[in-house]
Amino acid sequence: MSQKLLYTGKAKSLYTTENDDQLLCVFRNDTSAFDGERIEQLERKGMVNNHFNAFIMQKLQQAGVPNHFVKLESDTASIVKRLKMIPVECVVRNYAAGSICRRLGIESGLKLEPPTFEFFLKNDALHDPMINESHIMTFKWATPEDVALMKQQAFAVNKVLIELFQQAGLILVDYKLEFGRHGHGLMLGDEFTPDGCRIWDAETKKVLDKDRFRKNMGDVVEAYEEVALRLGIHLPQVSSPA
Ligand code: TMP
Repeated sequence: MSQKLLYTGKAKSLYTTENDDQLLCVFRNDTSAFDGERIEQLERKGMVNNHFNAFIMQKLQQAGVPNHFVKLESDTASIVKRLKMIPVECVVRNYAAGSICRRLGIESGLKLEPPTFEFFLKNDALHDPMINESHIMTFKWATPEDVALMKQQAFAVNKVLIELFQQAGLILVDYKLEFGRHGHGLMLGDEFTPDGCRIWDAETKKVLDKDRFRKNMGDVVEAYEEVALRLGIHLPQVSSPA
């Protein structure tokens, strides 16, 4: 089988497959923060994120939000549709946390009504600066139709996932999505995992996402596994020591 490494990201690698329209997406244990300035290996993270992403993407497909997920290939890899990615990140926030607190002096934990939507340029060297629709038009990163669709789909995702997390006693604080072109259309790509969103326990507000890594809180993958368990995601058992 001809498998060629096509792209290496900070936490995932993409390989060609025999099908020109599909890629193999391998979720690695690499965990990065501060635009790749800090990278560590966290055991089991690739496996947990692969299963987490598969579960969420399938829930979204069932709810009518098209995305690139095709099928699980192994514990750490999935087959996805090949997209031509748009170099912008779409962030939806239901509660204030992270950069919006720093930028606008907003208190962490404030409920945002209505939820906010922001674009960031995907560029680690520039530290993913915030951009607006005018920049996207001028620099031709996407068309006005793409922008409208990304916004609409990002909020459609919110509708599905707020409820899904709520049923598990969890708050979906915020999340980052990336979209790509497929044929003449546009669809959600990249991933939806605790690496790219914020999740808090609804009662205790315990942080259960990558902020545990960013802030050196420990038990990073354990927190991801707790969320997976509460959402009903089936993860392979840890093999017990001999
Ligand atoms: P922020 O508070 O740092 O702007 O991030 C908002 C959310 O988007 C948070 O859940 C982390 C996620 N995110 C990424 O995963 N990668 C990125 O490059 C950015 C800018 C945000």
